[in-house]
Amino acid sequence: MTDLVHTRAELAKARAGLAGTVGVVMTMGALHAGHETLIRAARERVDHVLVTIFVNPLQFGPHEDFDRYPRTLDTDLEVCRRAGADLVFAPAVADMYPDGQPTVRVNPGDLGEELEGQSRPGFFHGVLTVVLKLLQLTRPDVTFFGEKDYQQLTLVRRMARDLDVPVEVVGVPTVREPDGLARSSRNRYLSADERQVALSLSAALRAGADAAGRGADAGDVLAAAHRVLGEVPGVRLDYLVLTDPELEPGPVVGPARLLIAAWVGDTRLIDNLAIQLAPRT
Ligand code: PAF
Repeated sequence: MTDLVHTRAELAKARAGLAGTVGVVMTMGALHAGHETLIRAARERVDHVLVTIFVNPLQFGPHEDFDRYPRTLDTDLEVCRRAGADLVFAPAVADMYPDGQPTVRVNPGDLGEELEGQSRPGFFHGVLTVVLKLLQLTRPDVTFFGEKDYQQLTLVRRMARDLDVPVEVVGVPTVREPDGLARSSRNRYLSADERQVALSLSAALRAGADAAGRGADAGDVLAAAHRVLGEVPGVRLDYLVLTDPELEPGPVVGPARLLIAAWVGDTRLIDNLAIQLAPRT
Protein backbone atom coordinates (compact mmCIF):
# COMPACT_ATOMS: atom_id res chain seq x y z
CA MET A 1 0.00 0.00 0.00
CA THR A 2 1.17 3.54 -0.78
CA ASP A 3 0.21 6.26 1.68
CA LEU A 4 -0.15 9.85 0.52
CA VAL A 5 0.66 12.84 2.73
CA HIS A 6 0.59 16.52 1.83
CA THR A 7 1.75 18.53 4.84
CA ARG A 8 4.99 18.61 6.84
CA ALA A 9 3.09 17.53 9.97
CA GLU A 10 1.62 14.50 8.18
CA LEU A 11 5.04 13.65 6.77
CA ALA A 12 6.73 13.92 10.17
CA LYS A 13 4.15 11.59 11.69
CA ALA A 14 4.41 9.03 8.88
CA ARG A 15 8.23 9.24 8.87
CA ALA A 16 8.39 8.61 12.63
CA GLY A 17 6.59 5.31 12.04
CA LEU A 18 9.22 4.00 9.57
CA ALA A 19 11.65 1.64 11.32
CA GLY A 20 14.65 0.43 9.29
CA THR A 21 16.31 2.02 6.29
CA VAL A 22 14.56 4.72 4.28
CA GLY A 23 15.22 5.68 0.66
CA VAL A 24 13.94 8.82 -1.05
CA VAL A 25 13.22 9.40 -4.73
CA MET A 26 12.59 13.09 -5.44
CA THR A 27 10.45 14.00 -8.42
CA MET A 28 8.40 16.81 -9.88
CA GLY A 29 5.67 14.35 -10.87
CA ALA A 30 4.65 13.49 -14.44
CA LEU A 31 6.21 10.15 -13.62
CA HIS A 32 7.42 7.90 -16.44
CA ALA A 33 9.43 4.71 -16.80
CA GLY A 34 12.61 6.51 -15.71
CA HIS A 35 11.07 7.44 -12.35
CA GLU A 36 9.62 3.96 -12.01
CA THR A 37 13.13 2.54 -12.38
CA LEU A 38 14.37 4.90 -9.64
CA ILE A 39 11.59 3.76 -7.30
CA ARG A 40 12.30 0.10 -8.09
CA ALA A 41 16.03 0.64 -7.47
CA ALA A 42 15.12 2.13 -4.09
CA ARG A 43 12.75 -0.78 -3.40
CA GLU A 44 15.65 -3.21 -3.81
CA ARG A 45 17.95 -1.28 -1.48
CA VAL A 46 15.92 -0.06 1.51
CA ASP A 47 13.11 -1.10 3.87
CA HIS A 48 10.89 1.90 3.12
CA VAL A 49 10.62 3.89 -0.10
CA LEU A 50 9.44 7.47 0.04
CA VAL A 51 8.69 9.45 -3.13
CA THR A 52 8.37 13.23 -3.15
CA ILE A 53 6.27 14.95 -5.81
CA PHE A 54 6.74 18.69 -5.89
CA VAL A 55 6.99 21.09 -8.82
CA ASN A 56 9.60 23.42 -7.37
CA PRO A 57 9.05 27.04 -8.46
CA LEU A 58 12.59 27.94 -7.38
CA GLN A 59 14.15 26.07 -10.28
CA PHE A 60 12.08 27.64 -13.06
CA GLY A 61 13.33 30.77 -14.81
CA PRO A 62 10.96 33.64 -15.63
CA HIS A 63 10.45 32.34 -19.19
CA GLU A 64 10.26 28.66 -18.30
CA ASP A 65 7.29 26.36 -18.11
CA PHE A 66 6.30 26.34 -14.38
CA ASP A 67 2.58 26.78 -15.12
CA ARG A 68 2.72 24.51 -18.17
CA TYR A 69 4.58 21.78 -16.24
CA PRO A 70 2.30 18.70 -16.18
CA ARG A 71 0.59 17.93 -12.85
CA THR A 72 -0.71 14.35 -12.93
CA LEU A 73 -0.98 13.27 -9.28
CA ASP A 74 -3.51 10.45 -9.83
CA THR A 75 -1.45 8.68 -12.48
CA ASP A 76 1.75 9.43 -10.54
CA LEU A 77 0.27 7.61 -7.53
CA GLU A 78 -0.47 4.62 -9.77
CA VAL A 79 3.19 4.53 -10.85
CA CYS A 80 4.32 4.81 -7.20
CA ARG A 81 2.03 1.95 -6.17
CA ARG A 82 3.12 -0.24 -9.08
CA ALA A 83 6.80 0.33 -8.35
CA GLY A 84 6.39 -0.38 -4.63
CA ALA A 85 6.65 3.03 -2.93
CA ASP A 86 5.44 3.06 0.69
CA LEU A 87 4.86 6.76 1.13
CA VAL A 88 4.34 9.75 -1.19
CA PHE A 89 4.90 13.30 0.02
CA ALA A 90 3.17 15.78 -2.31
CA PRO A 91 3.29 19.18 -0.60
CA ALA A 92 1.80 22.45 -1.81
CA VAL A 93 4.16 25.36 -2.51
CA ALA A 94 3.01 27.00 0.76
CA ASP A 95 4.02 23.88 2.68
CA MET A 96 7.52 23.86 1.24
CA TYR A 97 8.03 27.63 1.40
CA PRO A 98 5.77 28.85 4.23
CA ASP A 99 7.61 32.20 4.43
CA GLY A 100 7.62 32.73 0.68
CA GLN A 101 10.74 32.22 -1.43
CA PRO A 102 13.75 31.51 0.79
CA THR A 103 16.36 34.23 1.03
CA VAL A 104 19.08 31.72 1.97
CA ARG A 105 19.79 29.22 -0.82
CA VAL A 106 22.39 26.58 -1.56
CA ASN A 107 25.16 27.93 -3.77
CA PRO A 108 26.15 25.24 -6.29
CA GLY A 109 29.56 26.83 -6.94
CA ASP A 110 31.22 27.20 -10.34
CA LEU A 111 29.76 24.00 -11.78
CA GLY A 112 26.28 25.39 -11.11
CA GLU A 113 26.96 28.20 -13.61
CA GLU A 114 28.11 25.89 -16.42
CA LEU A 115 26.27 23.69 -18.93
CA GLU A 116 22.63 23.63 -17.72
CA GLY A 117 23.41 26.49 -15.36
CA GLN A 118 24.61 28.68 -18.21
CA SER A 119 21.35 28.31 -20.13
CA ARG A 120 19.22 28.37 -16.99
CA PRO A 121 20.62 30.94 -14.53
CA GLY A 122 19.73 30.14 -10.90
CA PHE A 123 18.49 26.67 -11.84
CA PHE A 124 20.87 24.71 -9.61
CA HIS A 125 20.46 27.13 -6.69
CA GLY A 126 16.76 26.22 -6.85
CA VAL A 127 17.38 22.49 -7.30
CA LEU A 128 19.93 22.13 -4.50
CA THR A 129 17.87 24.26 -2.14
CA VAL A 130 14.78 22.11 -2.55
CA VAL A 131 16.81 18.88 -2.48
CA LEU A 132 18.42 19.89 0.82
CA LYS A 133 15.04 20.88 2.26
CA LEU A 134 13.49 17.57 1.17
CA LEU A 135 16.44 15.67 2.66
CA GLN A 136 15.92 17.51 5.97
CA LEU A 137 12.20 16.78 5.95
CA THR A 138 12.42 13.12 4.95
CA ARG A 139 15.76 12.16 6.64
CA PRO A 140 16.59 9.24 4.32
CA ASP A 141 19.57 6.89 4.52
CA VAL A 142 19.81 6.79 0.73
CA THR A 143 18.56 9.02 -2.06
CA PHE A 144 18.29 7.98 -5.72
CA PHE A 145 18.88 10.28 -8.70
CA GLY A 146 18.78 9.46 -12.41
CA GLU A 147 21.94 9.73 -14.49
CA LYS A 148 19.78 11.38 -17.17
CA ASP A 149 20.19 14.66 -15.26
CA TYR A 150 23.89 14.02 -14.85
CA GLN A 151 24.93 17.51 -13.74
CA GLN A 152 22.15 17.50 -11.13
CA LEU A 153 23.31 14.10 -9.82
CA THR A 154 26.92 15.33 -9.69
CA LEU A 155 25.96 18.50 -7.81
CA VAL A 156 23.73 16.64 -5.33
CA ARG A 157 26.66 14.29 -4.61
CA ARG A 158 28.96 17.25 -4.18
CA MET A 159 26.52 19.07 -1.91
CA ALA A 160 26.19 15.97 0.30
CA ARG A 161 29.98 15.73 0.50
CA ASP A 162 30.74 19.44 0.94
CA LEU A 163 27.97 20.12 3.47
CA ASP A 164 28.25 16.78 5.34
CA VAL A 165 24.67 15.81 4.59
CA PRO A 166 24.30 12.31 6.09
CA VAL A 167 22.86 10.54 3.05
CA GLU A 168 24.18 8.15 0.42
CA VAL A 169 23.51 9.45 -3.10
CA VAL A 170 22.95 6.65 -5.62
CA GLY A 171 22.98 7.29 -9.38
CA VAL A 172 20.62 5.16 -11.49
CA PRO A 173 21.28 4.59 -15.23
CA THR A 174 19.12 6.42 -17.77
CA VAL A 175 16.06 4.57 -19.05
CA ARG A 176 15.72 4.72 -22.84
CA GLU A 177 13.00 3.99 -25.37
CA PRO A 178 13.86 0.99 -27.61
CA ASP A 179 15.08 3.45 -30.30
CA GLY A 180 17.47 5.15 -27.86
CA LEU A 181 15.53 8.28 -26.84
CA ALA A 182 16.15 9.02 -23.15
CA ARG A 183 12.92 9.00 -21.13
CA SER A 184 11.97 12.50 -20.04
CA SER A 185 8.85 14.32 -18.89
CA ARG A 186 9.54 16.75 -21.74
CA ASN A 187 9.21 14.11 -24.47
CA ARG A 188 5.45 14.60 -24.27
CA TYR A 189 5.91 18.05 -25.86
CA LEU A 190 7.46 16.55 -29.02
CA SER A 191 5.38 16.08 -32.18
CA ALA A 192 5.90 12.81 -34.09
CA ASP A 193 8.33 14.55 -36.49
CA GLU A 194 10.20 16.24 -33.66
CA ARG A 195 10.51 12.92 -31.86
CA GLN A 196 12.31 11.52 -34.92
CA VAL A 197 14.65 14.53 -34.90
CA ALA A 198 15.23 14.11 -31.15
CA LEU A 199 16.68 10.65 -31.78
CA SER A 200 19.77 12.37 -33.13
CA LEU A 201 20.82 13.31 -29.58
CA SER A 202 21.28 9.74 -28.37
CA ALA A 203 22.60 8.74 -31.82
CA ALA A 204 25.29 11.44 -31.56
CA LEU A 205 26.29 10.22 -28.09
CA ARG A 206 26.48 6.63 -29.34
CA ALA A 207 28.59 7.70 -32.31
CA GLY A 208 30.98 9.38 -29.85
CA ALA A 209 31.11 6.28 -27.64
CA ASP A 210 31.70 4.04 -30.68
CA ALA A 211 34.53 6.29 -31.86
CA ALA A 212 36.09 6.10 -28.37
CA GLY A 213 35.74 2.32 -28.54
CA ARG A 214 37.82 2.39 -31.72
CA GLY A 215 40.56 4.31 -29.89
CA ALA A 216 39.62 7.88 -30.94
CA ASP A 217 40.89 10.77 -28.82
CA ALA A 218 38.65 13.45 -27.26
CA GLY A 219 38.66 15.65 -30.40
CA ASP A 220 37.65 12.78 -32.68
CA VAL A 221 34.94 11.61 -30.27
CA LEU A 222 33.37 15.07 -30.40
CA ALA A 223 33.78 15.22 -34.18
CA ALA A 224 31.97 11.87 -34.56
CA ALA A 225 29.07 13.14 -32.45
CA HIS A 226 28.92 16.47 -34.34
CA ARG A 227 28.82 14.59 -37.66
CA VAL A 228 25.58 12.85 -36.64
CA LEU A 229 23.99 16.12 -35.53
CA GLY A 230 25.09 17.82 -38.74
CA GLU A 231 23.10 15.31 -40.77
CA VAL A 232 19.79 16.13 -39.04
CA PRO A 233 18.12 19.48 -39.75
CA GLY A 234 15.93 20.73 -36.92
CA VAL A 235 18.32 20.31 -33.97
CA ARG A 236 19.56 23.53 -32.38
CA LEU A 237 22.59 22.54 -30.35
CA ASP A 238 23.13 24.26 -27.00
CA TYR A 239 26.21 22.28 -25.92
CA LEU A 240 28.06 19.07 -26.64
CA VAL A 241 30.94 18.51 -24.24
CA LEU A 242 33.25 15.72 -23.24
CA THR A 243 34.34 16.00 -19.63
CA ASP A 244 35.74 14.16 -16.67
CA PRO A 245 33.03 11.97 -14.97
CA GLU A 246 32.92 14.36 -11.97
CA LEU A 247 32.50 17.29 -14.39
CA GLU A 248 35.80 18.70 -13.15
CA PRO A 249 37.67 21.02 -15.53
CA GLY A 250 40.91 19.82 -17.10
CA PRO A 251 42.13 17.28 -19.65
CA VAL A 252 39.99 14.18 -20.10
CA VAL A 253 41.61 10.74 -20.10
CA GLY A 254 40.19 7.29 -19.38
CA PRO A 255 36.61 7.36 -18.05
CA ALA A 256 34.69 10.41 -19.31
CA ARG A 257 31.18 11.72 -19.87
CA LEU A 258 29.73 13.05 -23.11
CA LEU A 259 26.87 15.49 -22.47
CA ILE A 260 24.48 17.14 -24.88
CA ALA A 261 21.70 19.73 -24.68
CA ALA A 262 19.70 20.79 -27.72
CA TRP A 263 16.43 22.34 -28.76
CA VAL A 264 14.06 20.39 -30.95
CA GLY A 265 11.26 22.79 -31.86
CA ASP A 266 10.31 24.51 -28.60
CA THR A 267 11.55 21.66 -26.41
CA ARG A 268 14.96 21.62 -24.78
CA LEU A 269 16.32 18.10 -24.32
CA ILE A 270 19.40 16.78 -22.52
CA ASP A 271 21.18 13.45 -22.58
CA ASN A 272 24.60 12.00 -21.69
CA LEU A 273 26.64 8.83 -21.93
CA ALA A 274 29.66 7.31 -20.21
CA ILE A 275 32.65 7.21 -22.55
CA GLN A 276 35.86 5.26 -22.10
CA LEU A 277 38.75 7.09 -23.74
CA ALA A 278 41.89 5.13 -24.49
CA PRO A 279 44.71 6.02 -22.06
CA ARG A 280 47.29 8.42 -23.49
CA THR A 281 50.46 6.72 -24.67
O1 PAF B 1 14.98 16.11 -11.23
C1 PAF B 1 13.94 16.66 -10.77
O2 PAF B 1 12.83 16.24 -11.05
C2 PAF B 1 14.07 17.88 -9.88
O3 PAF B 1 15.13 18.68 -10.25
C3 PAF B 1 14.16 17.51 -8.37
C4 PAF B 1 15.43 16.75 -8.07
C5 PAF B 1 12.95 16.70 -7.97
C6 PAF B 1 14.19 18.79 -7.53
O4 PAF B 1 13.05 19.55 -7.73
